[in-house]
Amino acid sequence: ATIFVPCDSAALAAGADRVAAAVEQEAARRGQDVRVVRNGSRGMLWLEPLVEVRTQAGRIAYGPVQPGDVPGLFDAGWLDGGGHALCHGPTDEIPYLREQERLTFARVGITDPLSLADYEAHGGWRGLRNALDMAPEAVVQAVMNSGLRGRGGAAFPTGIKWKTVLSTPASQKYIVCNADEGDSGTFSDRMLMEGDPFALIEGMAIAGLAVEATQGFIYVRSEYPHAIAALNAAIDIARRNNWLGDDIQGSGKAFHLEVRKGAGAYICGEETSLLESLEGKRGVVRAKPPLPAIQGLFGQPTVVNNVISLATVPAILANGAAWYRDYGMGRSQGTLPFQLAGNVRHGGLVEKAFGVTLNTLLHDFGGGSASGRPFRAAQVGGPLGAYLPVSQWDTPIDYEAYAAISAMVGHGGVVAFDDTVDMAQMARYAMEFCAIESCGKCTPCRIGSTRGVEVIERIVRSDGEARERQLALLNDLCDTMLGGSLCALGGMTPFPVQSAIRHFPEDFGLDPAMSA
Ligand code: NAI
Ligand code: SF4
Repeated sequence: ATIFVPCDSAALAAGADRVAAAVEQEAARRGQDVRVVRNGSRGMLWLEPLVEVRTQAGRIAYGPVQPGDVPGLFDAGWLDGGGHALCHGPTDEIPYLREQERLTFARVGITDPLSLADYEAHGGWRGLRNALDMAPEAVVQAVMNSGLRGRGGAAFPTGIKWKTVLSTPASQKYIVCNADEGDSGTFSDRMLMEGDPFALIEGMAIAGLAVEATQGFIYVRSEYPHAIAALNAAIDIARRNNWLGDDIQGSGKAFHLEVRKGAGAYICGEETSLLESLEGKRGVVRAKPPLPAIQGLFGQPTVVNNVISLATVPAILANGAAWYRDYGMGRSQGTLPFQLAGNVRHGGLVEKAFGVTLNTLLHDFGGGSASGRPFRAAQVGGPLGAYLPVSQWDTPIDYEAYAAISAMVGHGGVVAFDDTVDMAQMARYAMEFCAIESCGKCTPCRIGSTRGVEVIERIVRSDGEARERQLALLNDLCDTMLGGSLCALGGMTPFPVQSAIRHFPEDFGLDPAMSA
């Protein structure tokens, strides 16, 4: 029998290694022939460690499994799909998974992340094979036609970025993968790198062919040691099997790839400070222009893309642009791997086509709040994203529809709060976060964020006219940060702050009727 025990960090944190050892020991004790495969996570984090048994009826899920449960699971006959209190039936039939559209995460949790045979059997390398036979322009056009936009958060059309790099002549160009995933409540990059590292490698190789870059770097945050290990192992396997190197599959085309570890600064997720850091310098933001697409790493034309953008490319090249474009709505095509976190019962990864709503994500998938109390707010798009009151949770999630309500989709992180949240404290925290993480290059962000913390504290403490004066000051400060900051950290910190005041004025001691 084959038993799957995830090796994803979330599962490891919940004790997956001990469970894997217990399964092997118990099988040996009973003289049963069991092979333990370490897969990625299915993304149902409240069920981790989620153990699956391959049976005649497909894969059957059990979770959360602790080492002490293992003898009982054998007693219950789980090798033949036997019932047990921890059994959830066929994994694919669990509504949380069944109701998703897993395009980018198609293999995650299903395959052994480091098995080339698994990767090929589940559609791997088809996109790169196609790209090897295409002209660079045609590869760029396919990505353009798919409608794919940057999944790191800014949603810039990936094809247009690639086109800029392709049409900029240079003797050396680079592909840089931004895997510095620093947004609060996000983990899709990590899950993808740990659960399907070959997909990212394949996507980067395709990007290399598309823009004629022969060298790639994956910049991973140091907090992701398991992702770094998985990537390094996968790169080594890909190289030995000629999917990377000087002569990919005998095509005469070259692409080399290396992993670089960050050192724990949120700002190094901003593309230009990431490039500085890659060059061995302190992570300080560069002025744009020049765009990295024109003058990026070591001054050369560089594609900087997020993990999810790059890992989505192989499926687009394999199945065609129209296939991907068919999902989503308006100008937001395809899917986004949403990450449900915070005060939610069923936190985890939900890949859905654009157009889904927060109500669907947090109630139907998330199962309501973890505390059992009513929801009050959700922050979407990381620490720089707006807070959305429950009254806006029916807005379809689409880049433009969210912009219209002064919110942002970002990297797809959703952090939920129940009715005990103090939104004035959340607004204060947004400013404090900016003060801590500011790279210090520009004044509105470096000084403004510290002043912002103070002003919000004064708003909460004061009343009457004094409060009005402080509010006017905060508005002014937010305007300055919005318009005068060099990058998104200072430039977007006003979003959570102002959305908190706009939607939850009572938490700032304001009369809701007056401020609406
Ligand atoms: P941006 O809008 O300045 O740029 C987006 C991308 O398009 C950049 O790569 C830029 O170089 C490129 N670009 C723009 N015009 C181009 C052209 N004509 N040709 C080629 N490329 C072009 O946004 P920025 O500052 O890069 O990112 C801000 C976003 O980052 C925020 O919206 C936020 O959602 C996201 N973010 C994500 C985090 C995460 O952990 N994933 C953390 C913090 C912020
Ligand atoms: Fe640095 Fe903040 Fe200015 Fe960005 S906005 S360049 S993080 S000081």
